Amino acid sequence: MNLAVLGAQWGDEGKGKIVDLLTPRFDIVARYQGGHNAGHTVYVNGTKFVLRLIPSGILHPGVTCLIGNGVVVDPQALFAEVDELAKNGIDVDGRLFVSDKAHLILPYHRDLDLLAEARRGERKIGTTSRGIGPAYEDKIARRGIRVGDLADPKGLAQSVRDNVSARNRLVHDTTMDWQSVLSQVVEISKRLTPMVRDVSLFLSEAFTSGKSVLFEGAQGTLLDIDHGTYPFVTSSNASVGGVCTGLGIGPRLIGGVMGVVKAYATRVGEGPMPTELHDDMGQRLRDGGNEYGAVTGRPRRCGWYDAVAVRYAARINGLDVLAITKMDVLDGLDEIRICTGYRCGDRTLTEFPSDVGQLAACVPVYESMPGWSEPTKGVRRFADLPTNARRYLARLEEVSGVPAALVSTGSDRNDTILRDDVIAARLPGFKLAI
Ligand code: IMP
Repeated sequence: MNLAVLGAQWGDEGKGKIVDLLTPRFDIVARYQGGHNAGHTVYVNGTKFVLRLIPSGILHPGVTCLIGNGVVVDPQALFAEVDELAKNGIDVDGRLFVSDKAHLILPYHRDLDLLAEARRGERKIGTTSRGIGPAYEDKIARRGIRVGDLADPKGLAQSVRDNVSARNRLVHDTTMDWQSVLSQVVEISKRLTPMVRDVSLFLSEAFTSGKSVLFEGAQGTLLDIDHGTYPFVTSSNASVGGVCTGLGIGPRLIGGVMGVVKAYATRVGEGPMPTELHDDMGQRLRDGGNEYGAVTGRPRRCGWYDAVAVRYAARINGLDVLAITKMDVLDGLDEIRICTGYRCGDRTLTEFPSDVGQLAACVPVYESMPGWSEPTKGVRRFADLPTNARRYLARLEEVSGVPAALVSTGSDRNDTILRDDVIAARLPGFKLAI
């Protein structure tokens, strides 16, 4: 049985930890979209790993990791990550493969990302400046360079020349030399080529031989290019549709969908976030949850749990279960709020609006719940949670419309509650127990 694990908020939900935790139950972990804009933080025996491009499953020796065609690959970032893993004794040889159809992020994409943001001025998106958007632009405009193109030196030279010229026409303060970019790309190809595979075919053969796959999402549903808070989104399909297009598999192979959410809400970058708190409570969540970007170090915007947004993500992805993370960050609060609707003019909305202007004008409608003074941090059995923490979780499930199969109470792998009853009811056939 194959499981998709994806973000059901604005990214940074703690997917890295959940994927790492569930990986031993699967043979393969496959990334289907995004690039090194992601930052999946995993703690193993006190050592912190931040994985940007390589699936979080790589930390488990017997597991094969795939980077699908839907991902945009910055080879320098990929190699830096491979080297970092090697330093920590983790060898990726023979178990990390990259799709020949994945598009490359090359040095000019980063320049174009910075330029586009500067030109947007007040309307900037707050991108991670990794060249993600421009690489996807090239893909859609059918001028991108794919991993498989590295095998055709003549065509490659032509494409690099054309793309660098286009960059030089737009960026005026510096000129990039296409031949030096080409030599970089040729160097890259020497190291990348052994990792290149037809990932769709690889998966098809794996399924035939009974292997199971965990599909790892990056960013979150509300940053999805189609279903997120456009234009304040990333440039890929972070929602479940991206699994099929980003790996080349049919929808029936996605056996279950797990949406990861924090017990509160965060967002990094620009764009509306109805429950954002600008007061001490926002700062309390930021400090308690260490809410600073894993990639850019930017402080994340923090606020209360937004059930309207999560219900929407549940619909877009057909979520079977939730994984609720960072419960312990709420320890010690007197009162906790949950947004159950939006007040918009004289109307109350219970559905997430498509229009970002309307969303920006919405004021959250809150219900209040009492907090708990006993810590949830490190609790590993549902029954051991403080009563009010259990009540809070029950209410989150109710207002989100999806039960929680997993609750995370700390950054360590083991600080996790798995709920066998929910798994049996919603993901029958999955053996997720640790
Ligand atoms: P881009 O993906 O760099 O183009 O950035 C577009 C938007 O997505 C910006 O608001 C970023 O802050 C946000 N974003 C991109 N990747 C992540 C992520 O992994 N976590 C949270 N936000 C992200």
